[in-house]
Amino acid sequence: MRVPLIAGNWKMHKTTQEAVQFVQALLPYLAKNRVWIAPPFTALYACTQAAKGSALQIGGQNLNENEAGAFTGEISGRMLIDVGASFVIIGHSERRHVFHETDLVIRKKIDRAFLSGLIPLLCIGETAEEHRKKNTQEVLNRQLDTALQGVSHQQMHQLIIAYEPVWAIGSGQSATPQLAQEMHQWIRHYLGKHFDPSMANQVTLLYGGSVNPANLADLLAQPDIDGVLVGGASLDAPTFIQMIQMGNKT
Ligand code: PGA
Repeated sequence: MRVPLIAGNWKMHKTTQEAVQFVQALLPYLAKNRVWIAPPFTALYACTQAAKGSALQIGGQNLNENEAGAFTGEISGRMLIDVGASFVIIGHSERRHVFHETDLVIRKKIDRAFLSGLIPLLCIGETAEEHRKKNTQEVLNRQLDTALQGVSHQQMHQLIIAYEPVWAIGSGQSATPQLAQEMHQWIRHYLGKHFDPSMANQVTLLYGGSVNPANLADLLAQPDIDGVLVGGASLDAPTFIQMIQMGNKT
Protein backbone atom coordinates (compact mmCIF):
# COMPACT_ATOMS: atom_id res chain seq x y z
CA MET A 1 0.00 0.00 0.00
CA ARG A 2 1.24 3.47 -0.88
CA VAL A 3 1.07 5.73 2.20
CA PRO A 4 0.07 9.28 1.23
CA LEU A 5 2.92 11.77 1.41
CA ILE A 6 2.55 15.52 1.94
CA ALA A 7 5.87 17.26 1.26
CA GLY A 8 6.76 20.93 1.64
CA ASN A 9 9.54 22.65 -0.27
CA TRP A 10 10.40 25.92 1.44
CA LYS A 11 12.83 27.05 -1.29
CA MET A 12 14.79 30.18 -0.19
CA HIS A 13 12.51 31.04 2.73
CA LYS A 14 12.71 31.01 6.53
CA THR A 15 15.40 31.69 9.09
CA THR A 16 16.39 29.02 11.60
CA GLN A 17 14.03 30.43 14.22
CA GLU A 18 11.08 30.62 11.82
CA ALA A 19 11.75 27.07 10.66
CA VAL A 20 11.90 25.63 14.19
CA GLN A 21 8.69 27.41 15.21
CA PHE A 22 6.97 25.93 12.17
CA VAL A 23 8.20 22.40 12.94
CA GLN A 24 7.07 22.69 16.56
CA ALA A 25 3.63 23.86 15.48
CA LEU A 26 3.34 20.92 13.09
CA LEU A 27 4.37 18.03 15.33
CA PRO A 28 1.03 17.54 17.15
CA TYR A 29 -0.74 17.08 13.79
CA LEU A 30 1.30 14.20 12.42
CA ALA A 31 -0.89 11.13 11.99
CA LYS A 32 -1.06 8.32 9.44
CA ASN A 33 0.43 10.10 6.48
CA ARG A 34 4.02 10.71 5.69
CA VAL A 35 4.99 14.37 6.12
CA TRP A 36 8.26 15.67 4.73
CA ILE A 37 9.77 19.18 4.77
CA ALA A 38 12.72 20.53 2.80
CA PRO A 39 13.95 23.67 4.59
CA PRO A 40 16.90 25.75 3.35
CA PHE A 41 20.31 24.24 4.18
CA THR A 42 20.94 26.71 7.00
CA ALA A 43 17.85 25.52 8.91
CA LEU A 44 18.31 21.78 8.32
CA TYR A 45 20.08 20.89 11.54
CA ALA A 46 17.74 22.94 13.71
CA CYS A 47 14.74 21.31 12.01
CA THR A 48 16.02 17.74 12.38
CA GLN A 49 16.71 18.46 16.06
CA ALA A 50 13.21 19.90 16.52
CA ALA A 51 11.67 16.89 14.72
CA LYS A 52 13.69 14.28 16.63
CA GLY A 53 11.62 11.33 17.81
CA SER A 54 8.70 12.26 15.52
CA ALA A 55 7.68 10.85 12.15
CA LEU A 56 8.42 14.14 10.40
CA GLN A 57 11.18 13.70 7.82
CA ILE A 58 13.51 16.57 6.97
CA GLY A 59 15.41 16.75 3.69
CA GLY A 60 17.58 18.92 1.47
CA GLN A 61 16.43 20.84 -1.61
CA ASN A 62 19.54 19.90 -3.59
CA LEU A 63 22.94 18.24 -3.30
CA ASN A 64 26.14 18.25 -5.33
CA GLU A 65 26.81 15.19 -7.48
CA ASN A 66 30.42 14.89 -6.28
CA GLU A 67 31.47 13.20 -3.09
CA ALA A 68 33.61 16.11 -1.83
CA GLY A 69 36.13 18.59 -3.17
CA ALA A 70 36.75 22.11 -4.44
CA PHE A 71 33.13 23.09 -5.18
CA THR A 72 32.63 26.44 -3.51
CA GLY A 73 29.11 26.98 -2.25
CA GLU A 74 27.98 23.37 -2.74
CA ILE A 75 26.58 20.84 -0.27
CA SER A 76 27.42 17.12 -0.33
CA GLY A 77 25.26 14.10 0.43
CA ARG A 78 27.44 13.31 3.41
CA MET A 79 26.81 16.80 4.83
CA LEU A 80 23.05 16.30 4.46
CA ILE A 81 23.24 12.98 6.31
CA ASP A 82 25.41 14.63 8.95
CA VAL A 83 22.68 17.16 9.82
CA GLY A 84 19.99 14.46 9.96
CA ALA A 85 18.39 14.80 6.52
CA SER A 86 16.73 11.64 5.19
CA PHE A 87 15.79 12.70 1.67
CA VAL A 88 16.82 15.19 -0.99
CA ILE A 89 14.88 16.89 -3.78
CA ILE A 90 16.64 16.39 -7.12
CA GLY A 91 15.91 18.05 -10.46
CA HIS A 92 13.40 20.61 -9.25
CA SER A 93 12.35 22.79 -12.16
CA GLU A 94 14.09 25.81 -10.63
CA ARG A 95 17.33 23.81 -10.53
CA ARG A 96 16.79 22.75 -14.14
CA HIS A 97 15.73 26.12 -15.55
CA VAL A 98 17.28 28.79 -13.30
CA PHE A 99 20.51 26.92 -12.57
CA HIS A 100 20.68 25.00 -15.86
CA GLU A 101 21.00 21.50 -14.44
CA THR A 102 20.99 18.93 -17.20
CA ASP A 103 19.38 15.49 -17.20
CA LEU A 104 22.86 14.00 -16.91
CA VAL A 105 23.76 16.04 -13.82
CA ILE A 106 20.43 15.04 -12.30
CA ARG A 107 21.25 11.39 -12.94
CA LYS A 108 24.59 11.81 -11.17
CA LYS A 109 22.83 13.48 -8.24
CA ILE A 110 20.51 10.50 -7.93
CA ASP A 111 23.53 8.19 -7.78
CA ARG A 112 25.10 10.42 -5.17
CA ALA A 113 21.94 10.50 -3.07
CA PHE A 114 21.78 6.68 -3.00
CA LEU A 115 25.51 6.39 -2.28
CA SER A 116 25.06 8.83 0.62
CA GLY A 117 22.03 7.01 2.05
CA LEU A 118 19.48 9.67 1.11
CA ILE A 119 16.10 9.04 -0.52
CA PRO A 120 15.98 10.92 -3.83
CA LEU A 121 12.78 12.85 -4.59
CA LEU A 122 13.11 13.27 -8.35
CA CYS A 123 11.12 16.10 -9.97
CA ILE A 124 10.12 15.96 -13.62
CA GLY A 125 7.82 18.10 -15.73
CA GLU A 126 7.33 19.97 -18.96
CA THR A 127 7.51 23.72 -19.59
CA ALA A 128 4.55 25.81 -20.77
CA GLU A 129 5.86 25.74 -24.32
CA GLU A 130 6.39 21.98 -24.30
CA HIS A 131 2.89 21.63 -22.88
CA ARG A 132 1.43 23.82 -25.63
CA LYS A 133 3.23 21.82 -28.30
CA LYS A 134 1.86 18.61 -26.76
CA ASN A 135 5.40 17.36 -26.09
CA THR A 136 4.79 16.41 -22.47
CA GLN A 137 5.24 12.65 -22.82
CA GLU A 138 8.34 13.06 -24.92
CA VAL A 139 9.86 15.36 -22.29
CA LEU A 140 8.96 13.09 -19.37
CA ASN A 141 10.28 10.13 -21.29
CA ARG A 142 13.62 11.85 -21.82
CA GLN A 143 13.86 13.07 -18.22
CA LEU A 144 13.01 9.62 -16.81
CA ASP A 145 15.22 7.69 -19.26
CA THR A 146 18.28 9.66 -18.21
CA ALA A 147 17.52 10.10 -14.51
CA LEU A 148 16.73 6.43 -13.91
CA GLN A 149 19.55 4.96 -15.98
CA GLY A 150 21.40 2.49 -13.78
CA VAL A 151 18.89 2.73 -10.93
CA SER A 152 18.31 -0.80 -9.59
CA HIS A 153 14.98 -2.41 -8.74
CA GLN A 154 15.88 -2.21 -5.09
CA GLN A 155 16.65 1.51 -5.35
CA MET A 156 13.39 2.11 -7.22
CA HIS A 157 11.51 0.94 -4.13
CA GLN A 158 12.86 3.98 -2.30
CA LEU A 159 12.86 6.65 -4.97
CA ILE A 160 9.97 9.11 -5.07
CA ILE A 161 8.92 10.86 -8.28
CA ALA A 162 7.12 14.21 -8.35
CA TYR A 163 5.38 15.27 -11.54
CA GLU A 164 5.52 19.06 -11.52
CA PRO A 165 4.48 20.80 -14.74
CA VAL A 166 6.68 23.90 -14.86
CA TRP A 167 3.72 26.07 -15.94
CA ALA A 168 1.87 25.11 -12.76
CA ILE A 169 4.67 25.92 -10.31
CA GLY A 170 4.09 29.17 -8.44
CA SER A 171 1.57 30.27 -11.07
CA GLY A 172 -1.61 29.68 -9.09
CA GLN A 173 -2.71 27.55 -12.03
CA SER A 174 -2.59 23.93 -10.92
CA ALA A 175 -3.02 21.11 -13.44
CA THR A 176 -6.56 19.78 -13.30
CA PRO A 177 -6.88 16.59 -11.24
CA GLN A 178 -7.78 14.79 -14.49
CA LEU A 179 -4.68 15.93 -16.32
CA ALA A 180 -2.47 15.24 -13.30
CA GLN A 181 -3.97 11.74 -13.01
CA GLU A 182 -3.42 11.10 -16.71
CA MET A 183 0.26 11.98 -16.39
CA HIS A 184 0.72 9.97 -13.20
CA GLN A 185 -0.85 6.98 -14.87
CA TRP A 186 1.52 7.47 -17.78
CA ILE A 187 4.53 7.62 -15.42
CA ARG A 188 3.40 4.45 -13.65
CA HIS A 189 3.01 2.75 -17.00
CA TYR A 190 6.52 3.92 -17.96
CA LEU A 191 7.90 2.41 -14.73
CA GLY A 192 6.04 -0.82 -15.41
CA LYS A 193 7.64 -1.07 -18.85
CA HIS A 194 11.16 -0.20 -17.69
CA PHE A 195 11.16 -2.13 -14.42
CA ASP A 196 8.13 -4.29 -13.70
CA PRO A 197 4.44 -3.60 -13.14
CA SER A 198 4.31 -4.76 -9.53
CA MET A 199 7.24 -2.50 -8.66
CA ALA A 200 5.62 0.39 -10.56
CA ASN A 201 2.58 -0.06 -8.37
CA GLN A 202 4.62 0.49 -5.26
CA VAL A 203 6.39 3.70 -6.30
CA THR A 204 5.11 6.87 -4.63
CA LEU A 205 4.16 9.48 -7.22
CA LEU A 206 3.57 13.06 -6.11
CA TYR A 207 1.94 15.94 -7.93
CA GLY A 208 3.37 19.46 -7.52
CA GLY A 209 2.43 22.88 -8.87
CA SER A 210 0.14 25.38 -7.10
CA VAL A 211 -1.26 22.82 -4.67
CA ASN A 212 -3.32 24.46 -1.92
CA PRO A 213 -6.10 23.52 0.52
CA ALA A 214 -8.73 24.25 -2.16
CA ASN A 215 -7.45 21.77 -4.76
CA LEU A 216 -5.75 19.18 -2.53
CA ALA A 217 -8.70 16.84 -1.93
CA ASP A 218 -9.47 16.43 -5.64
CA LEU A 219 -5.82 15.75 -6.43
CA LEU A 220 -5.44 13.17 -3.64
CA ALA A 221 -8.63 11.46 -4.76
CA GLN A 222 -6.96 10.41 -8.04
CA PRO A 223 -5.89 6.75 -8.04
CA ASP A 224 -2.29 7.33 -9.17
CA ILE A 225 -1.57 10.47 -7.14
CA ASP A 226 -0.05 9.38 -3.84
CA GLY A 227 0.69 12.79 -2.42
CA VAL A 228 1.82 16.31 -3.19
CA LEU A 229 4.92 18.48 -3.23
CA VAL A 230 3.88 21.92 -2.04
CA GLY A 231 5.84 25.16 -2.46
CA GLY A 232 4.09 28.45 -1.63
CA ALA A 233 1.28 26.93 0.43
CA SER A 234 3.77 25.04 2.63
CA LEU A 235 5.24 28.25 4.04
CA ASP A 236 2.34 29.11 6.32
CA ALA A 237 2.02 26.66 9.25
CA PRO A 238 -1.80 26.81 9.64
CA THR A 239 -2.25 26.25 5.88
CA PHE A 240 0.20 23.35 5.77
CA ILE A 241 -1.36 21.81 8.90
CA GLN A 242 -4.76 22.05 7.21
CA MET A 243 -3.33 20.18 4.23
CA ILE A 244 -1.83 17.47 6.45
CA GLN A 245 -5.18 17.01 8.13
CA MET A 246 -6.94 16.74 4.77
CA GLY A 247 -4.36 14.19 3.67
CA ASN A 248 -4.91 12.12 6.81
CA LYS A 249 -8.52 11.57 5.87
CA THR A 250 -7.67 9.93 2.56
P1 PGA B 1 4.18 25.83 -5.73
O1 PGA B 1 5.62 25.14 -5.88
O2 PGA B 1 3.37 24.94 -4.82
O3 PGA B 1 4.48 27.18 -5.10
O4 PGA B 1 3.61 25.93 -7.08
C1 PGA B 1 5.72 23.75 -6.04
C2 PGA B 1 7.17 23.36 -6.16
O5 PGA B 1 7.98 24.19 -6.60
O6 PGA B 1 7.53 22.22 -5.83
